[in-house]
Amino acid sequence: MKLTIFNGSPRGEGSNTKVFLEHFLNGFTQTPGNSFEAHYLKDTAEHSRFAGIFNQAEAVMLAFPLYTDAMPGIVKAFIEELRPRIAAVESQPKRVLFLVQSGFPEAIQIEAVEQYLIKLARRLCCECAGIIVKGGGEGIQLMPAHVTRKIFGQFYSLGEIFGQNRTLDVQLLKKIRGMKRFPAWMLPGVYLMKLTGLMDFFWNAKLKENNAFDLRFDRPYAPETMKDS
Ligand SMILES: Cc1cc2nc3c(=O)[nH]c(=O)nc-3n(C[C@H](O)[C@H](O)[C@H](O)COP(=O)(O)O)c2cc1C
Repeated sequence: MKLTIFNGSPRGEGSNTKVFLEHFLNGFTQTPGNSFEAHYLKDTAEHSRFAGIFNQAEAVMLAFPLYTDAMPGIVKAFIEELRPRIAAVESQPKRVLFLVQSGFPEAIQIEAVEQYLIKLARRLCCECAGIIVKGGGEGIQLMPAHVTRKIFGQFYSLGEIFGQNRTLDVQLLKKIRGMKRFPAWMLPGVYLMKLTGLMDFFWNAKLKENNAFDLRFDRPYAPETMKDS
């Protein structure tokens, strides 16, 4: 089977999405005859060409980071480029699977977009082979190998089994998905992290890195701001 990957992270080749995909694909390509090609949706000028590739593909994986409980704009733009009803007519019947990974650990955040993706697969007349949900992804590239070994191993096994059976292993999906919400016993620790500023430390560092820290409370679409502009 040839799997066509669309990576929807604005970070492209440096993305956490790519890191998770790599482990999945290492497992997937263990089966002789399996191969993949990857495309980056940050290349927005290529969306129309990518839509053609989508239509002709045997199996597709759309992978992206969760952005404000949904998806990056480039992913939505690509989906619109697929023009679902037309794709349904022009496209080969195919399997489509999704990977959605988020910064915060609670899987509940991904549930709304998950429903959207199930419906999207139907509208594209594709068979939905499943949705891989992974929370707590932001720091993945900074974590030491002994911390990531288990999760990367799970992605590898998931890809390996998918490569053999064309199905995502339900038990592995459950393990990768992790917790729906923080359990009650963790909440005091979470509040403590919030109070001490530890929770925001990483995100604030990212804002500073991008010269956006002083803009963090901006409301560009608030009616009063729009009036001024
Ligand atoms: C604009 C923006 C919105 C985000 N919204 C969420 C969110 O709603 N929930 C969450 O858990 N993480 C959110 N994140 C964090 C990303 O999902 C997370 O950092 C992800 O691992 C980035 O993956 P990438 O490197 O593949 O782009 C957001 C990040 C950005 C930049």
